[in-house]
Amino acid sequence: MQTFLVTGGVGFIGSNFILKARKERWANIINLDKLTYASNPQTLAQLQDDPGYHFVRGDICNIELLGSLLKQYQPNAIINFAAESHVDRSILSPQDFIQTNILGTFQLLEASKAYWEKLSLQKREQFRFLHISTDEVYGSLGPKDPAFREDTPYAPNSPYAASKAGSDHLVRAYYHTYGLPTLITNCSNNYGPRQFPEKLIPLMILNALNGKPLPIYGDGQNIRDWLYVVDHCEALYLVLQSSHIGKTYNIGGNNEQTNLTVVEKICTILDELAPKPNFSYSSLITFVKDRPGHDRRYAIDCNKICSELGFEPKEDFDSGLLKTIQWYLSHPIWVKQVQSGDYQTWIKQNYQDRITAVH
Ligand code: NAD
Ligand code: DAU
Repeated sequence: MQTFLVTGGVGFIGSNFILKARKERWANIINLDKLTYASNPQTLAQLQDDPGYHFVRGDICNIELLGSLLKQYQPNAIINFAAESHVDRSILSPQDFIQTNILGTFQLLEASKAYWEKLSLQKREQFRFLHISTDEVYGSLGPKDPAFREDTPYAPNSPYAASKAGSDHLVRAYYHTYGLPTLITNCSNNYGPRQFPEKLIPLMILNALNGKPLPIYGDGQNIRDWLYVVDHCEALYLVLQSSHIGKTYNIGGNNEQTNLTVVEKICTILDELAPKPNFSYSSLITFVKDRPGHDRRYAIDCNKICSELGFEPKEDFDSGLLKTIQWYLSHPIWVKQVQSGDYQTWIKQNYQDRITAVH
């Protein structure tokens, strides 16, 4: 069986990828994660007795650690999920985004190149460096603009998007200059189990269940293209298995929704699954001060990965949202763990002034 070194694998997408990889026996996994605020070590507790899974707490900026892990475990692929990932946090404090997303990716590329150059010819040809990126690097679309394609020019608008764009450029340059067999995927908004509740969907589910306001930025008409996280993980495995290198693939769910519609759908499902007498969760919807520089619309054209690699998103939004809400309802301990301590500080910092500014 192959071995993958996964970075940031305790986070939302990485943990779903690792669970799928072990279930489907795609590979043995070494998971390197710094365990920032966005991760809960209990997320992967079910793998603690799995001999094909090994967790290492550490930072992708630590090149000595990277070198020793690569030497020890000799992975066939590196999959870089590690990042600071929340746009609102990047607006309030961009420093960590530059550090991990740009400098961390640089250190990972350097360590990977040093490791790859010493492999046998056959292993060099099989090796892959897969960098997980975002559609936000392409900027914002107008209502009638065509969806983002792989050749859409980069126009990142937030410090987060700019830091991801910087990391993408470095990954591309390591292929072009040194021949390191890299691949980049740019995906749209993921949703599903195990997402940290600073992001729209889990935040709204948990606020609603706690009877708190559902804070919609601006007019709620901003559009995102939602991709179920398990579909995303399957797409990543297709990319890893393909014989192509140096390429970029856009991954999306063909599923554009306004934020207001997403929140209304959450409320409708909760009214059924967790009803309260004479009350609809939609009464908690509250319009609040907008995000600075808020991108209006994202949409992914995923024709390239569909036609070249046979990708097809399986989950439609209604069934995916139902599964997601059921997961949060049935994991109260996980929810309690991630909502303690720092989380409450963040909620105050991001929402207190927003809500009072509008009322
Ligand atoms: P997340 O915030 O849930 O998880 C990130 C993980 O990376 C955490 O476990 C954290 O501890 C770890 N990490 C952070 N800094 C690190 C460092 N310096 N060294 C090692 N580990 C570190 O993020 P996510 O939503 O799972 O996103 C994963 C990747 O996918 C990111 O690169 C993100 O930019 C990209 N992406 C996410 C989405 C989305 O909708 N969530 C969409 C497009 C792209
Ligand atoms: O498009 C891919 C990106 O999707 C990823 O690269 C990012 O890592 C991920 O965080 C996500 O970015 P967004 O900014 O689109 O996601 P977020 O969940 O923060 O917000 C989704 C939309 O909902 C956005 O238009 C802002 C809005 N929003 C968000 C929050 C947290 C609200 O209206 N209220 C909120 O409280």
